[in-house]
Amino acid sequence: MNDIAIELNETLQGTVAGRLLSDFGKRIYFPRGIIAQSAEAKKSASKANGTIGMAYSNGKPLLLPAFERYFPGFAPEEIVAYAPVAGSEALRKLWKNLILRKNPSLDPDSVYLPIVTPGVTAGIAYTAELFVNPGQTVLSAEPSWDNYSLIFEERCGGVMRGIYFFDDAGHLDIPKIDEAIRAEAANGSVRIIFNFPNNPAGYSPGVAEVDALVNCIRRAAEGGADVLVICDDAYFGFFYEDGVYKESIFSRLAGLHERVLAVKTDGPTKEDYSWGLRIAMITIGSKGLRPEHFDALEKKITGAIRSSVSCSNTPAQSLLLKIYKDETSAAQKDAFYTLLKERYEAVKRFIETRRGNPYLSPMPFNSGYFMCLRCNGIDAGRLRRELLEKQGIGVIAFGGEYIRVAFAGMEKEIIPEVFAAIYETATRIAV
Ligand SMILES: Cc1ncc(COP(=O)(O)O)c(C=O)c1O
Repeated sequence: MNDIAIELNETLQGTVAGRLLSDFGKRIYFPRGIIAQSAEAKKSASKANGTIGMAYSNGKPLLLPAFERYFPGFAPEEIVAYAPVAGSEALRKLWKNLILRKNPSLDPDSVYLPIVTPGVTAGIAYTAELFVNPGQTVLSAEPSWDNYSLIFEERCGGVMRGIYFFDDAGHLDIPKIDEAIRAEAANGSVRIIFNFPNNPAGYSPGVAEVDALVNCIRRAAEGGADVLVICDDAYFGFFYEDGVYKESIFSRLAGLHERVLAVKTDGPTKEDYSWGLRIAMITIGSKGLRPEHFDALEKKITGAIRSSVSCSNTPAQSLLLKIYKDETSAAQKDAFYTLLKERYEAVKRFIETRRGNPYLSPMPFNSGYFMCLRCNGIDAGRLRRELLEKQGIGVIAFGGEYIRVAFAGMEKEIIPEVFAAIYETATRIAV
């Protein structure tokens, strides 16, 4: 194993992160090569900098004039220069402040500076690579975003264990979730991913449910298990009902226990309507980690970034910095939130009119971009095809049993018509 990796592992020894590392997590490190040496040169090479693979003139990256035309107001280094592997320092600090503002109960001392990744997907994938070994179980809601299976199972060789998260009353089935956590804890470690608001169901827990989930995690840690909780907060902020916990559950986990490693993966993708910018963050929080541990973990994560995409997109980071500093952004964001909330309410109103339908039952939903219908006695794949071919309506079929409808993408005026077609088609193919 590389000497730097050995050093980092020694730093992490005896911590929850050190114990949870996968084999890849143990091997990976950030080299003291080109990037580190050129960062040093950037500070001290006053005469000439011959370290980095970029072309310069008069101290600025060479910029084709055509770029200037399409990026007015951007300096050359904001467009074409490589970004730091961990991301723009200014954006990282800004995002940390935003997280603290959006999650007032989060203790700032329990979290590290966020690290920029090219999208939330990448943040989850790096976390999985670092902490999931082949054969290890990852708990998640069932159904869950299908990419989890690609990441945890196909990429990392883990085994996903899905838990149907809801009871008959439409709340989280805490005893069932607790039982799954206990079963894993009995083997010494737990790996679980929470995704609220959830994809595909569109559910976020209430305050009491969050308390109960946190207690499940606390009990596992107190019993001696190391617990990795990934909080996939991709849809953070799209909460439409009173009583829903309006912070990330990460706030409650980051400082919970020395044996709990909480990893928040989030970003502007959905929150700030910038899906294709491919910028997101990994934020680590744990009561058991001191600054030198966070630092060692940053070197592991940046090693994973450096060895895959090398660094995230520079103009996207520069653009986001400008947008977050723009005073008009907040009001624009509020207006879009209202638009989505109205769509949610239109779906909810329609669904109320079809309660008790024998073929389709809505899963609990109160937040996010989606809602899900469970198919009873009909095939979700067939329903999807009929809707597409005969009605021109696109929905996603999950595992033969569920239909996911992304109401976020539909004008509110068309929602009753779309849902009427879904219910009518379901009835037609059932009989
Ligand atoms: C639950 C969940 N997590 C993460 C993502 C991906 O986010 P990104 O586009 O930033 O990779 C999605 C996108 O569909 C999602 O539904």
